[in-house]
Amino acid sequence: MIDKTLVKKRFKKSLKTYNENAFVQKHMAEKLISLINKNKFNKVLEAGCSTGILTEKIKENIKFEHFYANDIVSDSKTYIERIIPEVKFITGDIEEVETGEKYDLIISNACLQWCNDIDNVIKKLYDMLLSDGILAFSVFGDENLKELVSILNLPKRNINLDVLKNNFDIVYTETEKVKIYFDKPKDILTHLKYTGANALTEFKFTKSILNKFETDYKNMYTENGKVYLTYNPVYVVITK
Ligand SMILES: C[S@@+](CC[C@H](N)C(=O)[O-])C[C@H]1O[C@@H](n2cnc3c(N)ncnc32)[C@H](O)[C@@H]1O
Repeated sequence: MIDKTLVKKRFKKSLKTYNENAFVQKHMAEKLISLINKNKFNKVLEAGCSTGILTEKIKENIKFEHFYANDIVSDSKTYIERIIPEVKFITGDIEEVETGEKYDLIISNACLQWCNDIDNVIKKLYDMLLSDGILAFSVFGDENLKELVSILNLPKRNINLDVLKNNFDIVYTETEKVKIYFDKPKDILTHLKYTGANALTEFKFTKSILNKFETDYKNMYTENGKVYLTYNPVYVVITK
């Protein structure tokens, strides 16, 4: 089970540092927006909007009459209002919230992997589409942060594309691997903290665990004098 209180706490804390550190999520937002093959919608809903990295791309690339944005962290509202002042902000867990509306486009970047039942939330968002609507999202796949998952024995969460393919009209899927490099293992932990991704677990680093982590990480995941971390973005576009 995902600890939603921890998710809220960690993402709220990372709001100020998120934009300068979330370079993979920025790349994902650019890619996701490029997959929408229509540029005019009536009602758009963005789930898990945070500081608005994807919101900026929506504003630049898509015309809409009504824009709704959701995040489990209520402080995100101020960030989104700076980009789209007329936004209707919906605070809450996307697995739980009932907006009572239907949308032409529902879009979400790097958020839905934080849901306990990803298949169910995709079904829920699909049901919130008007006919001819588009559901487009990016999440992280099963090889995401695989170096950390193996060293720290973290819980693994997957999106099962086969289940999705059986249940929905998927018009596009793509999986990527993005390797990023850091000077030392500790920089990886700081990077995750600044992007809120440390909400994965309330892992406590004592001095000796940290020393072992640094030695193991360096020994196992070094290339050309740098340590690396793998991100595994998955993009999905579904039409109704
Ligand atoms: C990695 S950030 C991605 C932010 C943004 N979409 C972007 O493009 O950079 C994930 C966001 O999803 C939000 N989030 C996580 N779980 C959520 C949930 N169950 N319901 C709504 N928002 C959630 C977090 O608060 C955080 O702002």
